[in-house]
Amino acid sequence: MFADLIIINASNIATCADNQQGAGIIENGYVAVKDGRILEAAAGSPSQNIINSDTEVIDAMGKTVTPGLVDAHTHLVHGGSREKELPLKLKGVPYLEILKMGGGILSSVKNTRDASKEQLKAKALKSLNQMLVYGTTTVEAKSGYGLDFDTEVKCLEAAKELNGEHAVDIISTYMGAHAIPQEFKGDTQGYMDFMFEKVMPYVADNKLAEFLDVFCEDGVFSPEESRTIMQKAKALGFKLKIHADEIVPLQGAELASEMGAVSADHLLAASDKGIEAMAKAKVTAVTLPGTSFYLMLGKYAQARKMIDAGVRVAIATDYNPGTSPTESLQTIMSFACFGMKLTPEEIIKGMTLNAAYALDRQQEVGSIEKGKKADLVIFDAPNVDYIVYHYGINHVDTVIKNGKIVVKNRQIV
Ligand code: NIG
Ligand code: FE
Repeated sequence: MFADLIIINASNIATCADNQQGAGIIENGYVAVKDGRILEAAAGSPSQNIINSDTEVIDAMGKTVTPGLVDAHTHLVHGGSREKELPLKLKGVPYLEILKMGGGILSSVKNTRDASKEQLKAKALKSLNQMLVYGTTTVEAKSGYGLDFDTEVKCLEAAKELNGEHAVDIISTYMGAHAIPQEFKGDTQGYMDFMFEKVMPYVADNKLAEFLDVFCEDGVFSPEESRTIMQKAKALGFKLKIHADEIVPLQGAELASEMGAVSADHLLAASDKGIEAMAKAKVTAVTLPGTSFYLMLGKYAQARKMIDAGVRVAIATDYNPGTSPTESLQTIMSFACFGMKLTPEEIIKGMTLNAAYALDRQQEVGSIEKGKKADLVIFDAPNVDYIVYHYGINHVDTVIKNGKIVVKNRQIV
């Protein structure tokens, strides 16, 4: 069998295979691709038996190959931006205080309601292009800046359409439980009933989202309310995610474990018991160190403790207009390293295989193993450590999606 494409002479290949130590590094090797899937990856040179005149050969001398990056937590589709909140933030007005004043998430809700689907798609498309040139090939996208029926559906449809139109694969999450909209102010139960009766069945029936996420936080949805929302979601066939223990410790990690969530995200204030429960229930922790930095919280999720406790730790951007306005997982690598003290190999695995687990896509993407999707990044860096060490720039040279080159010399082709 002849390969369609072979990357040869790679200084480092981070396979990120599950059964390997660290990022499963192969030194001086090759990766062969056939029919959009990984054919083989190994040290040394490929056998001439898999190369013919139709095989495209890429020389990756001095470069590092990783699986396509997986961004397991983003709020991709939204209207507007919130740079006007910067002065308030700098004055020290807390995040939850800005939200109480009708700013924060609620100001993005207004911008999102005011935008047409085409406008939302055009904005999200720009973000997807950024993600791709920075090495992201699979992304999770939450709704939650519409809250009313029409706008939530508009955002989820936008994501679904973009998934068909753009190289990056988009996995959708319904997050109506992101805030209580003004029209239900003081009536959380009323808003929950509206989601249960009107929105969730429609989203499920029309397959607009695979996951449901809830913001379990002081002044947003209490643990009891979050549990009820998650129970209803489960009954409708949604897989579960939760914004847990982001700011105030509310035993969100415990709740995620109890409910069998696929992931619990944020977790800055997760308890030791919650971490143990997540290990036992095999809930993937999605850490979002860019958000810690951007909220100036002065602390990060205890990723090291989680890893030691046997929790699978993913790392994502949390791309959103309020607490993490960046599409770049490479930027987030800096905070994962210098904030959470993770090693570069742990970081790469956290943005590939472990992130795939957080999206229930571990069979399809996240590692360079025979049969998996040929989603690959060639970094212009001699090893994985270098990518994280030399920070603040884009090291991506080439991105391959489903076996096809989609970014070459840092440009979308
Ligand atoms: O993940 N925590 C809730 N949601 C987002 C922020 C949303 C916003 O501020 O617009 C987050 O941090
Ligand atoms: Fe988030």
